Amino acid sequence: MQRKGILLAGGSGTRLYPLTLAVSKQLLPVYDKPLIHYPLSALMLADIRDILVITTPHDRPLFERLLGDGSRFGIRLAYAVQPRPEGLPQALTIAADAGFLSDDTPSALALGDNLFYGADFPRQLREASARREGATVFAARVADPRPYGVVEFDPEGHALSLEEKPAYPKSPYAVPGLYFFDASAPRLAAGLRPSARGELEITDLQRLYLERGLLRVVPLGRGTAWLDTGTHDSLLDAAQFVAVIEQRQGLKIACLEEIGWRRGWIDDASLAASAELHGKSSYAAYLRRLLSEPRPAAK
Ligand code: DAU
Repeated sequence: MQRKGILLAGGSGTRLYPLTLAVSKQLLPVYDKPLIHYPLSALMLADIRDILVITTPHDRPLFERLLGDGSRFGIRLAYAVQPRPEGLPQALTIAADAGFLSDDTPSALALGDNLFYGADFPRQLREASARREGATVFAARVADPRPYGVVEFDPEGHALSLEEKPAYPKSPYAVPGLYFFDASAPRLAAGLRPSARGELEITDLQRLYLERGLLRVVPLGRGTAWLDTGTHDSLLDAAQFVAVIEQRQGLKIACLEEIGWRRGWIDDASLAASAELHGKSSYAAYLRRLLSEPRPAAK
């Protein structure tokens, strides 16, 4: 069974009020495109083309308006809602209950507010996606790991423990919000109990794999940036990061049409139609320019 993707884009976004009083966090701009483009691009770069977008009940129409059925990017998007933000593992049970995941479907769960960028990252994604057994997560070194899930390693580099938002982290390695699971994940998620803060914790699910020797933890190289958008400052940092790279290179980060086109999932005519859809924006000009530049080989 092909691996399917889940993009979790719900939550209350209270830490970003008043920005998120009226607009879903994952629709906020990160420089020139909505935040959700970035984690969706990571799933596409992992060669995942069937993706379930989970939103709050009232934001769902906005995401449908933005992304449609995914055919513009050469993928298939379906939608489901999470009535209340009761924890990240709930995404897996929602996907199973919706019939999106069946007993033999491996999945990748991406948090709608995480942004990755790095030359080696697409290769790491494809490797993680191709692995059939167990779960794969990444480890990213950060200056302050306290707001994240934290993974501790033994001297040989094997994962020893996982803790969610520890006051005293045992390592500087955070686990970013992009997880690859085998087909047993929805069943395991359904058996979890809420933590002391009243939520189902994704680290508890990862620990079930760790305890059975089925968790692979892949360190992100220092050439890969993982940015989180949980605060006003980190949201601004992410926008500035994207702006600096894009302005310097003349290439866009997380342009979904471009990824689909380079992969051969959409043709030139579809790319041209997307350019039309984007009016007089620089995004439209970028899509048109792709068509006129020498074509890179499809990957
Ligand atoms: O960003 C990586 C971190 O994400 C991991 O290191 C942590 O282990 C993981 O628990 C998570 O921590 P956060 O504190 O960032 O999770 P937060 O509650 O902010 O949720 C992440 C995103 O998922 C956010 O955009 C809101 C959305 N969400 C969250 C919950 C709890 C939902 O859509 N539904 C939910 O039930």
